[in-house]
Amino acid sequence: MSNVIILDRVTKKYGSGHGATLALDEVDLAIPAGQFIAVMGPSGCGKTTLLNLIAGLDDPTSGHVVVAGEDLGKLSERARFEIRLRHIGIVFQSFNLLPRVSVARNVMWRLELVGLRGRKARDRTAALLEEAGVPEAAWDRFPGELSGGEQQRVGVARALATDPRILLADEPTGNLDSLGAKRLLDQLRRLNQQRRMVVVLVTHDPHAGIVGSRSIELRDGRVIRDVASPPREVGVVVPFERPHDANG
Ligand SMILES: Nc1ncnc2c1ncn2[C@@H]1O[C@H](COP(=O)(O)OP(=O)(O)OP(=O)(O)O)[C@@H](O)[C@H]1O
Ligand SMILES: [Mg+2]
Repeated sequence: MSNVIILDRVTKKYGSGHGATLALDEVDLAIPAGQFIAVMGPSGCGKTTLLNLIAGLDDPTSGHVVVAGEDLGKLSERARFEIRLRHIGIVFQSFNLLPRVSVARNVMWRLELVGLRGRKARDRTAALLEEAGVPEAAWDRFPGELSGGEQQRVGVARALATDPRILLADEPTGNLDSLGAKRLLDQLRRLNQQRRMVVVLVTHDPHAGIVGSRSIELRDGRVIRDVASPPREVGVVVPFERPHDANG
């Protein structure tokens, strides 16, 4: 199977000298087409850093990140932007919505960038917001006028707008209630199974961690665990069980 995402001895250091932080420490990771991978680990272990590097939003200090066959380190900012636009959807941990435009505009803007306009863009935006569970009354408000959970849902709608091949989701259920979280995970699993969208899901929730086909755990910038989860059918609610870790 071909790998859609490859990290080859990726190290990311922030700062230098005494104040430096080693956020990722020689991480090797290959994510094949169609995979749904949960990334777990304590606060500060490097999860968001990992997503930022895969998205080409930041550069590794050393090593290579290859996405959809492209070595990101060899591309211009413009080319990386195009890759994000065409292939990657990102649900940011802190939402990153444009504060001065409406919720609907936040989503529609992505669609317009790929050439969808007018009625088609509006209809698709409405469908995305509805599917994500954003109440219609909120669509014309500014993001700051929504609850955290609602903003998170807008982030999901925007990330999925262009039918990305790869979804990078940073704690996308962090601000949702348990029903909302379950709905979102079901939606992601469906997109993964039906459209083979690669999902990289960062989560603290051990329950969310088992929806994928694989889960890895980071600690201090290193992958300390990498396990395959048993296959599951779409739409089946599985009673929560913990994956076995490597040492039993
Ligand atoms: N821009 C930055 N400048 C300096 N240090 C940073 C920066 N971003 C992250 N770090 C540090 O790098 C380490 C990894 O951070 P990262 O945000 O990847 O952790 P995380 O696993 O996503 O944590 P959380 O679960 O709290 O979101 C942390 O020690 C953090 O303080
Ligand atoms: Mg984080």
